[in-house]
Amino acid sequence: MKKVVLFADPGIDDTFAIVYALSSPELEVKAIVTGFGNVSKEDATENAAFILHVAGREDIPVITGASQPLTGEYEPYYPEIHGEEGIGPIDIPDTFTYEAKPFSHILEVTSQHDDLYFVDIGRNTSMALSFNLYPFIKDSIKEVYLMGGAFLVPGNVTPVAEANFHGDPTATNFVLESGLPVYLAPLNVTQYAQLKEEHVRLLAENSKNPFRSIFLPIFQYYQKAYEKLQPGLEGVPLHDLYTLYFLTNPDKTTIVQKNVQISTEKLTQGFTYADFRDMENNPEANHFININFDYEDFIKNILRRLMGEIKEN
Ligand code: RIB
Ligand code: CA
Repeated sequence: MKKVVLFADPGIDDTFAIVYALSSPELEVKAIVTGFGNVSKEDATENAAFILHVAGREDIPVITGASQPLTGEYEPYYPEIHGEEGIGPIDIPDTFTYEAKPFSHILEVTSQHDDLYFVDIGRNTSMALSFNLYPFIKDSIKEVYLMGGAFLVPGNVTPVAEANFHGDPTATNFVLESGLPVYLAPLNVTQYAQLKEEHVRLLAENSKNPFRSIFLPIFQYYQKAYEKLQPGLEGVPLHDLYTLYFLTNPDKTTIVQKNVQISTEKLTQGFTYADFRDMENNPEANHFININFDYEDFIKNILRRLMGEIKEN
């Protein structure tokens, strides 16, 4: 069982990832830390709390993280992909209330558990801040997983950069230099982790999950955005969902061990730099880049998990 602290900016693909994590017997979500990214921190926080409410898992704390990057630069949100408030067409009722925990609550979570997996599917600002403010929490962490980067392939927000690492490259470098083993799920793999409408229709018809009625409308919203952004795709890349699959199935994927750095220069901001002149592993590097996966296994695994019920505590 992997005990997870999940950093997220929900976000439609974040929503699928959170539901996957809550439905996976291999994972136990101990907290969700929210931050700016696809939407504002406030919307991301409400969305995470709402997802946990629908899942019946209000026992999992929602911790509020960063509202701006460490770069000090304004970062745009992405309503055209994720909707004005982040979960596409889903309108959270005004009557919905929740209580989020302050950032310092991370201390409580890390003091209660060992061997945690810190998994970030958004900008890395909050994780970097947690290592900066409370460096000793690293003793409670086994591995870090990040969705981000694009190695020798085009980016998705600039010609060379992927959105999460572009959003706060200073923070990503801080996490990469934390001394912890960091596993990366870059666009090289997530771009191919595509769900098709037929897959989501299967879920809408057969899932035992409380998200059954939500899966199709949020997927279709996201799909429409991608039809404009990247016309001609057969399916739609679920970047964050893939990252949770990677966390549960690293042995089913191809990983290379190399040192990674992120560009903080204006022109190339967010560019992921690693030496790919050969495919040799660098045994001294602390970074593990996922460069390939078995698509059939991914789809089977995802459908199996999302068909099932939310796990109880
Ligand atoms: O580049 C993809 C990433 O950016 C995903 O985490 C998505 O949710 C957006 O934040
Ligand atoms: Ca995300």
